[in-house]
Amino acid sequence: MKTIVPLFLILVEAAFLSGCKTADIPVAATTLKDAYRDDFRVGVAINRAQIFGDDQRGVSIIKSQFDSISPENVLKWESVHPEPGQYDFTAADRYVEFGESNHMYIIGHTLVWHSQTPAWVFQDDQGKPATRDVLLARLRDHILTVVGRYKGRIQGWDVVNEALNENGTLRNSPWRKIIGDDYIEKAFQFAHEADPRAKLHYNDFSLENEPKRKGAIALIKRLKAEGIPVDCVGLQDHTKLDWPTPHQLDRTISDFAKLGVKVMITELDVDVIPKTQHNRTAEVSQNSQKVAGADAYAAGLPEAKQMELARRYAELFRVYVRHRADITRVTLWGVTDADSWLNKAGRVNYPLLFDRAGQPKPAFQAVLGQATRPPGNRPCPDPSVSAMMP
Ligand code: GLA
Repeated sequence: MKTIVPLFLILVEAAFLSGCKTADIPVAATTLKDAYRDDFRVGVAINRAQIFGDDQRGVSIIKSQFDSISPENVLKWESVHPEPGQYDFTAADRYVEFGESNHMYIIGHTLVWHSQTPAWVFQDDQGKPATRDVLLARLRDHILTVVGRYKGRIQGWDVVNEALNENGTLRNSPWRKIIGDDYIEKAFQFAHEADPRAKLHYNDFSLENEPKRKGAIALIKRLKAEGIPVDCVGLQDHTKLDWPTPHQLDRTISDFAKLGVKVMITELDVDVIPKTQHNRTAEVSQNSQKVAGADAYAAGLPEAKQMELARRYAELFRVYVRHRADITRVTLWGVTDADSWLNKAGRVNYPLLFDRAGQPKPAFQAVLGQATRPPGNRPCPDPSVSAMMP
């Protein structure tokens, strides 16, 4: 059978060759998953068009570059369990089949979250708040049904998503209001009951900020002390060009590793749009409003910003690689810039490693350049990028 080499791999190869001495020439076109095979898995969040094969360009990037997948939306409560007693696994089944047929580490995302969960979950027949017992029974049914369906096939679950406020206290979500603080313990117990071998994660954003990090550390300590099976903390890492600092990131990963949990970078992207009131955090409720400055780069990303983005990715991966003993996976939240949630509300954003045409950006080469590789097989980063790196 004839092997078709995607155009972007040829370009990456050409970029490497143009800047490498003969001894540095990579033996084969380097991909993210190959470059990082000694460090951690490199994953990507995939959307419906990719799951169903409508976006073939995206599919070919996913297959060639990544060895783990996360479902951008198809496993959220509103997607799999839209009505009481009604489950729809059409897209989720295809997602898991895609991962299996490509030998990928498959992530389940997410079981308990305050967002993308239908209102009926928290209500009784009259539309009044459900009781603790009713909500706990719904939670158990949901988790046993969803996790149980993919037992032994989905290797890791983001069990609880975003339970903390910025000041480190527990978010007063409907889960907490109705069940109480122990909804978190219960969710982990139900997930463990459904698939005792699956790795279970607590996932959140902005954990690099000290007050929130302290809250997360207290939460993980509490769960561990109670014997709750929590294996991993997911740092979403919806980052900016200047946040978090490498120091904050370094400290955060070390702090969690000390607690005896692994760390995963679960939703990495870099928002390049200049700061506005509405894009300071990854708080999803703040992302629907159109704001001034959001379309600053509607005509394209200036070259200087492109390089700044590449340097930023290099800086982030440098920290991740330093912590490769504690980090098991780094997942990008989307394949190309066109796929990113950060384009919402009039923004034209450039947060990922592949551009809108599916071509690798300088940031892609900058990321490759940070990997630990066996001697003689290390990719040589594009000199135009490496020259500008700190
Ligand atoms: C959070 C969720 C993700 C995704 C992003 C934004 O980070 O965990 O599933 O919804 O928000 O889209």
